[in-house]
Amino acid sequence: MNQVPVISFRGVTKQFEDGVPVLNDVSFDIERGKFYTLLGPSGCGKTTILRLIAGFMEPTSGEIRMDGKLINDVPANKRQVNTVFQDYALFPHLNVFDNVAFGLRIRKLKKDDIERKVKEALRFVNLEGYEKREIREMSGGQRQRVAIARAIVNEPKLLLLDEPLSALDLKLRTEMQYELRELQRRLGITFIFVTHDQEEALAMSDEIFVLNRGNIEQSGTPTDIYDEPINRFVADFIGESNIVPGRMLEDFRVEFAGKAFECVDGGLRRGEPVEVVLRPEDLQITPAGAGKLSATVDTQLFRGVHYEIICMDDAGNEWMVHSTRKAIVGEVIGLDFDSEAIHVMRFGESEEDFDRRLEAYGELDEEEELDTNSSISQGASTARVQTTDLGAAGAAKEPSRSDSGPMTGPSSAQTGRPGGNS
Ligand SMILES: Nc1ncnc2c1ncn2[C@@H]1O[C@H](COP(=O)(O)OP(=O)(O)OP(=O)(O)O)[C@@H](O)[C@H]1O
Ligand SMILES: [Mg+2]
Repeated sequence: MNQVPVISFRGVTKQFEDGVPVLNDVSFDIERGKFYTLLGPSGCGKTTILRLIAGFMEPTSGEIRMDGKLINDVPANKRQVNTVFQDYALFPHLNVFDNVAFGLRIRKLKKDDIERKVKEALRFVNLEGYEKREIREMSGGQRQRVAIARAIVNEPKLLLLDEPLSALDLKLRTEMQYELRELQRRLGITFIFVTHDQEEALAMSDEIFVLNRGNIEQSGTPTDIYDEPINRFVADFIGESNIVPGRMLEDFRVEFAGKAFECVDGGLRRGEPVEVVLRPEDLQITPAGAGKLSATVDTQLFRGVHYEIICMDDAGNEWMVHSTRKAIVGEVIGLDFDSEAIHVMRFGESEEDFDRRLEAYGELDEEEELDTNSSISQGASTARVQTTDLGAAGAAKEPSRSDSGPMTGPSSAQTGRPGGNS
């Protein structure tokens, strides 16, 4: 697929008068018909990116293209983009119907068509029957839904959504997540969705950009980002992680907690200090003496479906475990895990270098990979512990990485990552 991206940023920097750049040499491509998410902590530049795409501000330097055409100074009303703003930005003096109908009236659609489309959009956001209500008589969550209806009614080519579900309760939020995703698929509109909620990002996106302080730390499918975070920031931000110091002994062999383990990572220098990631749901509790590590239970919390257990290994590393099995504080337990669950991160590696390294060492053929795995599984139980808060990621784990379509953004040179790696 060699189509021209709907939006592309090249070396985009944005700096306000008063200080440091809020976006720093940002480059990425947005492909037609996909669901993108900008994910990152407060103040990292998510809204700024949307405002640049929508045309509400100009970049300090760099190029923004839409369908290949430079649009740096094309005004907002000349771009086929609709935005659901973080603060909704509804017209307070218009009722619900007139808010949603606004764009259609500007486009001079027929009265009947306007009526039908507005009704449809309001049905989509569960606000049928609210047509005559004044905006000030609506709750925060209802206003948010009016804002979504007002944007989708125009069937724009590109829809920007700035935390559009943040004011909704959990049930409505989950419902709207499904429906937005469904709508995106049905209409084939390109969505750029902003959230600071990692579960929402994992559940909804084709592609996620993880942002930190005006930089894209990593871009990729939910599976890429969950399974192969490039650094501590991403690993920490996307789901809960155990991150412990370690040392690479050789390809596919890493040392941490004072022991050597088989792993599936390679392409690092011998003896190189690394950070090792193991997700809480990939650790299994065994009786003392069994398992790969020995640890003492520090605390335990019941989280609904699983117990969250914090324990300390003999080398002094703290581990969080999600387990359906209860533990006793002070008890000595064993910790077991599969070699594939170990993910090794190099300090300060760029996304391009990371992708290149993955390609270089990931060319093991499948048979070889199977051999390695079976020889190191030590016959331990490999049953995965069920978790609630990582359900979204679990669902996202299904498709194979090579199915995920062409990568965009800084890593576009990458041709698909080896399946089943850490
Ligand atoms: N008009 C402005 N003038 C000066 N600084 C600004 C302006 N707009 C945004 N900023 C700064 O730019 C940075 C990024 O802001 P932005 O609104 O893009 O963050 P965000 O990722 O959307 O955060 P949040 O999750 O809180 O909405 C912040 O430090 C913010 O203070
Ligand atoms: Mg914002």
